[in-house]
Amino acid sequence: MNERTENMVAVPGTLHLMGRLLRECAPGEGPHIALGLLVLLGASGAALLQPWPLKLVVDSVVGDQRPPSPLADLASTITAYTAFAAHPKFALLLILCLGVLALQSLVGVLEVLGTYLLVSVGLRMVFKLRCVLFDHTQRLSLSFHDATAVGDSLYRVTWDTYCAQELFNSGIIPALTASFTLAGIACVMLAVNWGVTLVALMVGVPLVLFIRRLDRPMTESSLRVHERESDVSTRVQETLTGIRAVQAFGREEFEGARFRQQAKASMRANLRLTLLQTSSQAAIDLLLAAGTAAVIGVTAAQALAGRLTVGDVVLLVAYVAMLYKPLETLAYTAAAAQSAAAGARRVFALLDTALDVADADGAIELPGRVSGHLAFERVSFNYREGVRALRDVCLDIPAGATIALVGPSGAGKTTLASLLLRFYDPTAGRITFNGIDVRTFSLRSFRRNIALVLQEPVLFSASVRENIAYARPGVTLWEIEAAARAAGAHEFITALPKGYETEIGERGVTLSGGQRQRLSIARAFLKDAPILILDEPTSALDAKTEALLLEALEQLKRGRTTLIIAHRLSTIRGADRIVVLQDGMVVEVGTHAELRHRGGPFQRLYDSQFGAISHQASTPESPQSPTITVRELWEQISHQASTPRSPQLWGLRPRTRHSYLSSSFHAGKPRGQV
Ligand SMILES: Nc1ncnc2c1ncn2[C@@H]1O[C@H](COP(=O)(O)OP(=O)(O)O)[C@@H](O)[C@H]1O
Ligand SMILES: [Mg+2]
Repeated sequence: MNERTENMVAVPGTLHLMGRLLRECAPGEGPHIALGLLVLLGASGAALLQPWPLKLVVDSVVGDQRPPSPLADLASTITAYTAFAAHPKFALLLILCLGVLALQSLVGVLEVLGTYLLVSVGLRMVFKLRCVLFDHTQRLSLSFHDATAVGDSLYRVTWDTYCAQELFNSGIIPALTASFTLAGIACVMLAVNWGVTLVALMVGVPLVLFIRRLDRPMTESSLRVHERESDVSTRVQETLTGIRAVQAFGREEFEGARFRQQAKASMRANLRLTLLQTSSQAAIDLLLAAGTAAVIGVTAAQALAGRLTVGDVVLLVAYVAMLYKPLETLAYTAAAAQSAAAGARRVFALLDTALDVADADGAIELPGRVSGHLAFERVSFNYREGVRALRDVCLDIPAGATIALVGPSGAGKTTLASLLLRFYDPTAGRITFNGIDVRTFSLRSFRRNIALVLQEPVLFSASVRENIAYARPGVTLWEIEAAARAAGAHEFITALPKGYETEIGERGVTLSGGQRQRLSIARAFLKDAPILILDEPTSALDAKTEALLLEALEQLKRGRTTLIIAHRLSTIRGADRIVVLQDGMVVEVGTHAELRHRGGPFQRLYDSQFGAISHQASTPESPQSPTITVRELWEQISHQASTPRSPQLWGLRPRTRHSYLSSSFHAGKPRGQV
């Protein structure tokens, strides 16, 4: 994790990042920025007048100096008309007190207005950055998402993007206004008393040196805070997404402990940053206090010597306080810029991740609905270096044909389907559509021709209607209903409390597995794509529900090129061709009748399944006879020889069984369902 920080700090400097943030997010904001700055400068100008009433009170109300003539005239006019301010000094005092209020009101109004204008610019920058980042992140291929925690991407999009506002509103703008104010006050002070002003300005030198030294530790510390916070959000996200597993396995305490560990790390990182910030603040304050002390000493000495009035001393000391305010602001803007740079680094790291599956230059748009011949030509693919998921796969899927893909779990069936959808691109070889490499087509137009039904349907927290219409927003309710009827979903939907408008919970948790799957079949109907991919669409369901769904699937397959990854042999009997995949390789291809008697892997599979069914059917304890699955049979076949039968573990996937036996816990990130 520290490595993460080191790597990122080593890349571009704060100034470079600031420039890039402005280029990405600030175009078109020029007029707003100029207006906002102008208003804030007006506020600073008005604030510059603030010490004068005090000086005049000291010199002309308490003391006996004659006030400037316009004020003296105004005071005598007031004295003439009011009984309250009978003495000119009272009238002057009244004017000065009202002046203090008027000045403060003006400063206040201008500050509110200017800040509003500039903060709205900052927030629009965050908005733009978020949108760009979100769009980019959802276009990154599954290789990226497989390797990155969702919580981390989530944190970058939602929180790290605030770096734009932080940089603008706590960095650039205060730095600009503070510089202007500093210059203004310095000019006024130089005019009033240049010697004292130079004494006051001398603290600037150590201040700048100090801030420069602070740059690196501050940036690193901020970056660490962002990373730890992102870890916390990842933890929450993963636990809540897997809440069923957490509760079912009673892992609440374990998750609680992991969460505490990361929350504590975040707390420590925050504390470290706070300590750094407050101690540097204290050091800066000390420097400024030294400057103030020097000014008080010098002015008081001059007053004792009779070269300055008491009012001058008050005025100059007030100005020094005003002079140091922008200096202090400049010091803090440096800190804010460093913290913003930490966020910007994380944002740009994500934004600069190349889209590895993307449209080629001049990608061809497929016009509307195109059916055609799909072919895998010596396709190999590995998720990680050196681990082959597919090897030299050659496969023909003629237009309108139904190809069934069978094989043990882990054979690469889902991977093959993912390649067809271009979730990933092949490591070697190519996939063609009507003889043309699919990478030639624009992703969008190619994917428009494919409908996908997964083992675990992906539903969103929205109404039933919106979920079905996900592939084709804006279709009529009539079409949605027709799709639902075709998928055999209409009955249960109309029985829901609000029918098609019923909100289903996140990931459709309020529906049963069969109902969820029917919705995803309805969605595929509605998409009406010429190519259909069914990845074990019924294997999560019981046999009865499956039988009902098979009818709907038969309807759906009609007239479409279909790749069905089969789970039960009953599902694939109607296929034009069956492809047997094993260890990422095609080991057998043929029709059901051909393979059935060839004596190869398929026949072994077939015989064991039907043998098993008749065996099961005669066993009274197993009422749902045809539930034994291809996968289980494969495992039976491949493990019969080597593994001693262990009834409790029977039916688990080989890898799981192995990890149980060797009691080694494989703490991999759960893979997304494809
Ligand atoms: N996202 C992934 N990252 C790394 N390895 C993966 C990923 N998905 C699948 N694999 C590996 O690729 C192989 C094929 O997996 P998969 O295509 O899901 O098999 P099937 O669908 O036939 O059960 C397996 O060894 C699996 O562990
Ligand atoms: Mg699979």
